Amino acid sequence: MSNASLAQRRRDAVAPAAYSTHPFYPVRAEGAYVWDADGRRYLDFSVGIAVMNVGHSHPKVIAAVQEQAASFQHLCFAVAMHESYIALAERLNALAPGDSPKRTFLVNSGAEAVENAVKIARAYTGRAGIVAFTHAFHGRTHMAMSLTAKAVPYKAGFAPRASEVYRAAYPYAFRNPWGLDDPEEVGARTLNALRDQVKTTIGESEVAAFIVEPVAGEGGFIPAPRSFLAGLRAYADEIGALWIDDEVQAGIGRTGTMWAVDAYGLEPDLVTSAKALSSGFPLSAVIGKASIMDAIGPGMLGSTFGGNPVSCAAALATLDVIEEEGLLERARTIGERAFERLGALQREFPAIGEVRGRGAMIGIEFVEAGTREPNAAAVSAIVAHAREQGLMLLPTGTYGNVIRLLPPLKLSDAELDEGLELLERSVRAVLEPVATVA
Ligand SMILES: Cc1ncc(COP(=O)(O)O)c(C=O)c1O
Repeated sequence: MSNASLAQRRRDAVAPAAYSTHPFYPVRAEGAYVWDADGRRYLDFSVGIAVMNVGHSHPKVIAAVQEQAASFQHLCFAVAMHESYIALAERLNALAPGDSPKRTFLVNSGAEAVENAVKIARAYTGRAGIVAFTHAFHGRTHMAMSLTAKAVPYKAGFAPRASEVYRAAYPYAFRNPWGLDDPEEVGARTLNALRDQVKTTIGESEVAAFIVEPVAGEGGFIPAPRSFLAGLRAYADEIGALWIDDEVQAGIGRTGTMWAVDAYGLEPDLVTSAKALSSGFPLSAVIGKASIMDAIGPGMLGSTFGGNPVSCAAALATLDVIEEEGLLERARTIGERAFERLGALQREFPAIGEVRGRGAMIGIEFVEAGTREPNAAAVSAIVAHAREQGLMLLPTGTYGNVIRLLPPLKLSDAELDEGLELLERSVRAVLEPVATVA
């Protein structure tokens, strides 16, 4: 087995729509490293798109999975209930942002959690309208795809989209239309524009929910300003709509708090979680205020695999590891160390427009030097060069011009420095430093 032989088999067997950023074939992964079929080792700063926060092949997660799989793999919660589903719901309810009592419903993927959050919001409010934002990504199933902002490759060709979905502007401070520097001012103005849009074109009585990522992930790792989220909370309450906080990418410790929204001290009505929740075993959750969740009648929601016991065991072990190994704090220190170094790099390279993010969810936005024109070519070249050096990176962003850093939260300072060093080397190989720009 080699990368070349697997590439040939893939071409003959796999639907080309299932795309991969990197043209190699992993055969093993441990901690912060991945090995491919040719025996090459890579330092992984993508962790399966924000999934392996506790690192690859964590022994505690492996042991929990093995033990559960040896007892039973599946009975279906709709047939007979298993304890680990209940234990995970208890745990998530206790961890969820805010003081209101909570209830949890488990399904299989981020998109499925989003689909169910929308169903819950509509059934609870008796309204249809869902307001999503520019730069949003909520998944690829029908409703989730319709809520996602980017047309290509996510929506174009898949018409019709779901109805009663409205698009409002997300507060993207680096690209705001007012030329403002202060993200909080951008947040306040964006909120005012949202209020006006809802009032004049959607109708305040028609909105079931606002769905928003606290840090827009696929949109470019853009944290929402406090003024915007706090204003959204107040406005949703004012008009009787719900706030769905999509924490699929930013949650489970990635930003230095369990939920990205914890940093704002706000309580959403519904939270969606997936990805890092269960370290790679398919699982997602809708965690909601009990007053809302209890209004949805027995049997109205369900899924054959949802809350699979092996996935629940993986999730419980993952949450233990985050707590026992102090990974929330570690995410913050990773962020501080990385921001310091990346800030220095930005001062040297005018094509680095912005370094931003929260904790260990860090985005580097590349532009044509001296402008804010997106520079996706630089990102592609840096990602390819870094791969050759043994570093796995991922691009992101509406314009494809952002590199996202998603190191495992467990990695050592030496591993973090190694990754940042490789990244710097690739930036230097691809970009002109400040002194040589005319
Ligand atoms: C914020 C957000 N919501 C939802 C999803 C969809 O998750 P999944 O790919 O598990 O369906 C993603 C995936 O990247 C995401 O980042």
